[in-house]
Amino acid sequence: SKGGYDCFMLKEINEQPEGVKNTLERRIDENGNIVLDGIHLTKEDLDNINRIYIVACGTAYHAGLLGKNALEKYLKVPVITDIASEFRYSDNFVDEHSLVILVSQSGETADTLAVLRDSKAKGAKILAITNVVGSSISREADEVFYTWAGPEIAVASTKAYTTQITSLYMIALNFALEKGTITREEYLETIEKMKELPEKIQSVLDNQDKIKETAEKIVSKEHVFFLGRGVDYSLAMEGSLKLKEVSYIHSEAFAAGELKHGTIALIEEGTPVISIATQENLFEKMVSNMQEVKARGAFVASIAQEHNRSVEKVSDEVIYIPNCDDMLVPIVAVVPMQLLAYYVSTMKGLDVDKPRNLAKSVTVE
Ligand code: F6R
Repeated sequence: SKGGYDCFMLKEINEQPEGVKNTLERRIDENGNIVLDGIHLTKEDLDNINRIYIVACGTAYHAGLLGKNALEKYLKVPVITDIASEFRYSDNFVDEHSLVILVSQSGETADTLAVLRDSKAKGAKILAITNVVGSSISREADEVFYTWAGPEIAVASTKAYTTQITSLYMIALNFALEKGTITREEYLETIEKMKELPEKIQSVLDNQDKIKETAEKIVSKEHVFFLGRGVDYSLAMEGSLKLKEVSYIHSEAFAAGELKHGTIALIEEGTPVISIATQENLFEKMVSNMQEVKARGAFVASIAQEHNRSVEKVSDEVIYIPNCDDMLVPIVAVVPMQLLAYYVSTMKGLDVDKPRNLAKSVTVE
């Protein structure tokens, strides 16, 4: 049932505080440690791993891009994140020193499952992050970590994404503690910050006016561009996918630094640009990219942390999110983009939950 909401997508967007809370807090023991139920890698296993691959499709791939940041930061092991349908057919160097992490809401995606099987045959350790107990991917993996998002019905993935990122961060933190690449202090401090996420997501859900206004500005447009750097570029890819699949507006995500290598040629009077500027260390760089598109007539709507008021001088519209740690911010910053996609879709009178040509689970290659 849609529980009083007009569609599953909106219901599931609203279930994210709870989904993130369940995925995280129900696994924290009395000493404040995360318990990775379903994962049994020892320090010796972790020491034996010299490369990590995160492989997935669509939104799960976008979560994997963020997982890479966390694993590299905390565990200090090189991570390659790739799309399953590309990875399968590449010379990927997976071997017995590899950890292959498959991320899949349904646990049934054909290309992701194929990568699991190939990698297993090459002797790699296989860890699955999935939302569906008993799914093919969960049955065939060595280690399984469940997102506790609850059933996701809408074709456009929302709560699976935020709980996948949460899971990847939890795994990164625990592996790093086990391996000794982070201090206990940093570990506990990060968990404390993660516990604040449900409340921060809720605050985005409670303040939708600016998001609605932005939706009104782009509903009749043909193209929308999403810009970001680093973590925000991964987020831009997800925001763009969400918008295009439920609104049928052509949208693309660009690394903001790539603008002047071609993309900026597309900017004309009124072109909507959603600029994601949540990263402290890249903030000034983003501001100058926003200035560049604005000077060429773009309509700039930005997503920024509350304290970064200086985005206003280069934006036509600003959607503020609560202040967050740079690493954790995507779990909050994606929510306005999910809502934006939802609003545009409903304003156009489209079937939000069942976009044309799409299936919830892609079991054919
Ligand atoms: C986008 C979306 C898809 C899925 C992709 C992977 O909103 O839902 O891109 O993320 O098909 O599906 P799973 O996670 O089930 O493997």
